[in-house]
Amino acid sequence: MDKFKRKDLLGIKDLSAEEIKIILQVAETFREVSRRDVKKVPTLRGKTVINLFFEPSTRTRTSFELAAKRLSADAVNISTSTSSLAKGETILDMAKNLDAMAPHVIVVRHSSAGVPHQLAKASRASIVNAGDGSNEHPTQALLDAMTIYEHKGRIEGLRVAILGDILHSRVARSNVYLLTKLGAEVCVAGPNTLIPQDFQHLVENGLTICPSIESAIQDADVVMVLRIQKERMNEAFFPTMREYSIHYGLTKERLKLAKPDAIVLHPGPMNRGVEIASDVADGSSSLILNQVEYGLAVRMAVLYLLTGGED
Ligand code: CP
Repeated sequence: MDKFKRKDLLGIKDLSAEEIKIILQVAETFREVSRRDVKKVPTLRGKTVINLFFEPSTRTRTSFELAAKRLSADAVNISTSTSSLAKGETILDMAKNLDAMAPHVIVVRHSSAGVPHQLAKASRASIVNAGDGSNEHPTQALLDAMTIYEHKGRIEGLRVAILGDILHSRVARSNVYLLTKLGAEVCVAGPNTLIPQDFQHLVENGLTICPSIESAIQDADVVMVLRIQKERMNEAFFPTMREYSIHYGLTKERLKLAKPDAIVLHPGPMNRGVEIASDVADGSSSLILNQVEYGLAVRMAVLYLLTGGED
C-alpha cells in the first residue's frame, strides 16, 4: 500500500482518488476492532489527540474520541465554553498554546470556513477538519463512501442523488468532490435558493444540477438527504418548513422513483418530517446507523495514517 504522506486532513478537494482509497482500505481493517469484546488495540499508544469543537456535535466528536481511545491514544476534549477562549484568547493563540504541549493530532470543528487551514499553518500537530462552516466535512464524505462501498461494492458508475440544503452543507461539498473523483454520477437538487453558484464549475467533472428532486431521485442507486441548516440561514430561503417538506422532503412515494435496491443516507442529525419522512429514515433502504458505525472505522484510519501508523 502506498504511504499516506499528508500532515493534515483538511478536505477532500485536495485529495487524490488514490489517497481516498488508502483511507478507505485502512478503515476496513479497523472495522473489526469495534466488533471485539475488548475494543482496543495498542496501535497509537503514547499519542495524544485533542478534540476542539466550537460547534455542537454528537456523531463526529464521539467517534473521534472513541477512535482515539480504541487505538490506545490519549484523548482530550476541550469545551469552548470552559476554555480561555471565553476570556478573549484568539483561536490561533489557543492553537499555539496547545501545540506547546506537543499533541500529535488536533481535531477541529468551527463555524467559519478555513479555521482548520489556519491552525494547520500554526501547529506542528496534524490538524483534522471535523467540519468548517459550509466548506468541508471530509471524514463524513469518507464514511459515506465506505457505506456505499460496503453495500454496493463500488462507487464508479453509480448514480447518487444529493438532496436538500446544498448551499450550507459541508457534507454535500465534500461528497461531491469525493464521489466525482471516484467516478460516480452525482446529481444535486433542492430549492434554487439552496444550490451554490460555485457548483457550476464542477458540472463537467461528473456533477449534474437537477431541475427537481424527482429528476435527481429517478433511477438513483444512492439517495443522500441533507439536513436543513437553520443555524446557517440568516434570510428566508423557502417559505415554511411545511412547504419545504411537501416539495423537497424524501417520502416513500418519491423514493419509489429510485432503483428498487437504492440505499438512503443522511449524515444526521435529522429533521424528521422535514427533509426526510420517518418511515423512510427507519425503513429497509436506510443505512443511517450503518454510516455512524463506519464513521468510527474511518476516524480510526485517519488518526492512524496521520500519525504515521503505517510504520
Ligand atoms: N454528521 C455529523 O457531523 O453529525 P454531528 O454534527 O453530530 O457530528
